[in-house]
Amino acid sequence: YGTQAINDQGHLTIGGTDTVELAKEYGTPLFVYDIQLFRDRAKAFQKTFEDEAIGYQVAYASKAFSSIAIYQVAAEEKLSLDVVSGGELYTAVQAGFPKEKIHFHGNNKSEAELRMAFKEEIGCIVVDNFYEIELLKKLSEELEQPMNILLRVTPGVEAHTHDYITTGQEDSKFGFDLKNGQAEEAFLRTYDHPFLKLMGLHCHIGSQIFDTTGFQVAAEKLVEKMSGWEEKHGYRCTVLNLGGGFGIRYTDEDQPLEPAVYVRDMIRTVKKVSAAAGYKVPEIWIEPGRSLVGDAGTTLYTVGSMKEVPNLRKYAAVDGGMSDNIRPALYGAKYSSILANKATSEANEKYTIAGKLCESGDKLIEEAILPSMEAGDILSVFCTGAYGYSMASNYNRIGRPAVVFVENGEHQLVVRRESNEDLISHDMSYKQKVKGK
Ligand code: LLP
Repeated sequence: YGTQAINDQGHLTIGGTDTVELAKEYGTPLFVYDIQLFRDRAKAFQKTFEDEAIGYQVAYASKAFSSIAIYQVAAEEKLSLDVVSGGELYTAVQAGFPKEKIHFHGNNKSEAELRMAFKEEIGCIVVDNFYEIELLKKLSEELEQPMNILLRVTPGVEAHTHDYITTGQEDSKFGFDLKNGQAEEAFLRTYDHPFLKLMGLHCHIGSQIFDTTGFQVAAEKLVEKMSGWEEKHGYRCTVLNLGGGFGIRYTDEDQPLEPAVYVRDMIRTVKKVSAAAGYKVPEIWIEPGRSLVGDAGTTLYTVGSMKEVPNLRKYAAVDGGMSDNIRPALYGAKYSSILANKATSEANEKYTIAGKLCESGDKLIEEAILPSMEAGDILSVFCTGAYGYSMASNYNRIGRPAVVFVENGEHQLVVRRESNEDLISHDMSYKQKVKGK
């Protein structure tokens, strides 16, 4: 992937830096991000929109990996930003991300979070439910401050890898139902509000999708809805946000499309449906997370103990696990790996890669074919850039790993490893209060 290569010493390199050296310098587990690849992915999405000559925004869905440094690179690449909490918004503000390009998502934004959005004058809020509509009306009237909004709807399309299903009614905690009139009601409650500026509709149909059909069906339904509103109420929505969900290749079993293909098909459908409805083609916004950072990230681990279960399997344990990558345990997610320090050695042994956490399910890779391993080897697990660090935890009081960005032969620490002091930094001693004192 990206800038990965193997050097004369048989070591894996990323961004022109030797990963074995990185492991030595920063310790393991270590997240290494190939920043050139992130930039290339961003440009590929943007170029498709440019080629199709259509108004657009590509927003990085930063739940996939949120940090000050990645927000700064996203800003350099002229991306917009999707945040889903006060914490992500705060991080973006601290990173100096252009506030007018920040979109705020979430199905239960608190009043404090919404106030922060007004204070920072962000680009738009993706409104999820009626409770939020009322909160936003109250706040915008109290502050006498405008706010752009999109309405999140559930179009009755669920996409998952190669399949998509159209469901009559969507059972989702997110958004307004399109079929039973909730979207209609949300439109009526917002479109003529003096401060809330309704820009359009949003939907997100799933994640790790390998097919464009679901996006096309969703686009069709949303354009029809918007065009219906124009006819009926004379109000024209100008933005159609089709979310994220573009798949990536974790293992050879995954066969994603090129990012550009998802977007091109989406754009053509929107143009076609708009033309048929006599509707002015809306701007298209997308929110890729995984497809921007997923394969840009690699985790380096140090191999420690081994155990053979006779006639069954060999376990090789690494110095991290479900605390830095919960996805195998949570979703049965699969990953591929190599030995970074023996990248040219023949891979002829079967291992189960286990983590170091106190849970039998803490396995990173069920079956990895690797060269014969010994303690001290550096295992690199690929495609960990999305939902790895961002879903990391301190289970077993293990500190979160460090994160390093590599690009053009340079490496730079962008998130410091959590120390034992960090781990107890929020703890306070308990002193029993003596009655009467
Ligand atoms: N937009 C919205 C409204 C979303 O809910 C999401 C992801 C995205 C964009 C970005 O989707 P992406 O392009 O990354 O697929 N933790 C799970 C993935 C959860 C996705 C949640 N929403 C995982 O590790 O696979």
